[in-house]
Amino acid sequence: MIILSVESTCDETAVALVRDGREVLTDQVFSQADLHAIYGGVVPEIASRSHVEVISQLADRALAVSGIRKSEIDAVAVSYAPGLIGAVLVGLSFAKSAAAALGVPLIPVHHIRGHMAANYLAYPELAPPFVCLAISGGNTLIVDVRGYTDMAVMGATRDDAAGECFDKTARVLGLGYPGGKPVDLAARGGDDLRYDFPVARIEGRPYDMSFSGLKTSVVNLVHHAEQTGGELNRADLCASFQRAVSESLVPRAVAAAREAGRKVLVAAGGVAANSRIRADLEKAAAAAGLTLYVPPLRLCGDNGAMIGAQGYYEYLAGHIAGSDLNAYASLSLDAANDTVWTAGR
Ligand code: KG4
Repeated sequence: MIILSVESTCDETAVALVRDGREVLTDQVFSQADLHAIYGGVVPEIASRSHVEVISQLADRALAVSGIRKSEIDAVAVSYAPGLIGAVLVGLSFAKSAAAALGVPLIPVHHIRGHMAANYLAYPELAPPFVCLAISGGNTLIVDVRGYTDMAVMGATRDDAAGECFDKTARVLGLGYPGGKPVDLAARGGDDLRYDFPVARIEGRPYDMSFSGLKTSVVNLVHHAEQTGGELNRADLCASFQRAVSESLVPRAVAAAREAGRKVLVAAGGVAANSRIRADLEKAAAAAGLTLYVPPLRLCGDNGAMIGAQGYYEYLAGHIAGSDLNAYASLSLDAANDTVWTAGR
């Protein structure tokens, strides 16, 4: 089964062709990062307008590069939530039109489910059940993936996402946008114990996380140094910051996998590209006897193929949307388990 998949929830526009949920025929991704960099973050209207400009061209290129004919496309999958609403609407409208024009089903895909499914593209043997640490620019979740389309959120951030925290840290340090990779690079060789950043714990909710205190702590430290002329060691600061983020994420993910009785731990999302978090996950998973899957770097950030991968399993579960499918800025990952889809176009 060949699925044309569409992603436009934030600042990447992507159109991919994926066979049977596991084989990427092509993945055309246009990153808008340069358009937003001067503002230090994503500007929603610029994002929407850029998606409109490039999405048709990406679809044309996907067909041209793969050599797949329109008549070979069996379904269209689209990331309909969560995300910047104007941005999501562009991909959704395009996908609806494509499904109607091709006369094929429209498959709704929750963006974070897509991030998790990126792992299916890299690891043919990977199958649920497993626990997934999903860490992206807008979401931070620990999820028990009981089946391909049956998920239970075990924990989530109460405030900022881990990626937002990286981006804010990069911003106050003048490292540019998006901030995760520059912070990761700046941390190399730094002393991760030099600065004592907070790791929040939430009473009675062992798998929930909070990053707003950490973010404020970094901002205050930098501003205080600027105002008093104090010296900050950037490598040490970034290394200490990464330690705090990793200590918030990794032990919780491992403990959640144990509690759920899973043998496999999976990471997903843009922040899963972080070298410190990857290294800590490896150590912690090995110590706990868990098999770990971390996506290759190219599949950590937003892409179209991950939507086609998850779309295949949503299709097998009968999740076919009607022409009334709407976009949602926020939508719980497990709410998507119970959605009754109005099949047919
Ligand atoms: O998954 P993604 O591409 O977009 C969303 O679905 O939100 O994640 C983007 C986030 C950004 O916050 C970016 O700074 C972060 O992933 N990121 C990283 C790294 N590379 C990207 N964070 C930490 N370390 C990295 N190496």
